[in-house]
Amino acid sequence: MNTILILHGPNLNLLGAREPNVYGRVTLVEINRRLEKLGAELGVKIETFQSNHEGELIDQLHHTKAAAVVLNAGALTHYSYALRDAIAGVPFPIVEVHLSNIAARAEAWRHHSVIAPVCAGSIAGFGPLSYELGLRAALNLIQSSTEK
Ligand code: DQA
Repeated sequence: MNTILILHGPNLNLLGAREPNVYGRVTLVEINRRLEKLGAELGVKIETFQSNHEGELIDQLHHTKAAAVVLNAGALTHYSYALRDAIAGVPFPIVEVHLSNIAARAEAWRHHSVIAPVCAGSIAGFGPLSYELGLRAALNLIQSSTEK
């Protein structure tokens, strides 16, 4: 069975309580639970990891045995060249996801993602559904690569 790693970056542990007007009331535990349920339906094993530390996220990318990753890099999205280089350096596809529509956020610095060019694709603006769409996209990429 294929494994997909769900990687959550800084401050996403605070979901549910953090700026609910922007990020909603659903907690990270609940998001992970929904993804595990969807994974079971789709026949893929789900692993989840959250860190507030850039290096820990990079270490996960270096050491995971997953066939694909769904990544919400939080604010690192906008400035972490180290994370960008880690994504470029691993052989499996990574789907970028965001709860909010970063292109529509008030702060201009959120409009640019330095990781987008090295990710397989990006999904933003659908709240927790962004992760579920990201999981479906990641699985699709795994399946189409093994069909070749
Ligand atoms: C976010 C958007 C980022 O700009 C922000 O720093 C986050 C969450 C999102 O899921 O909408 O931490 O990645």
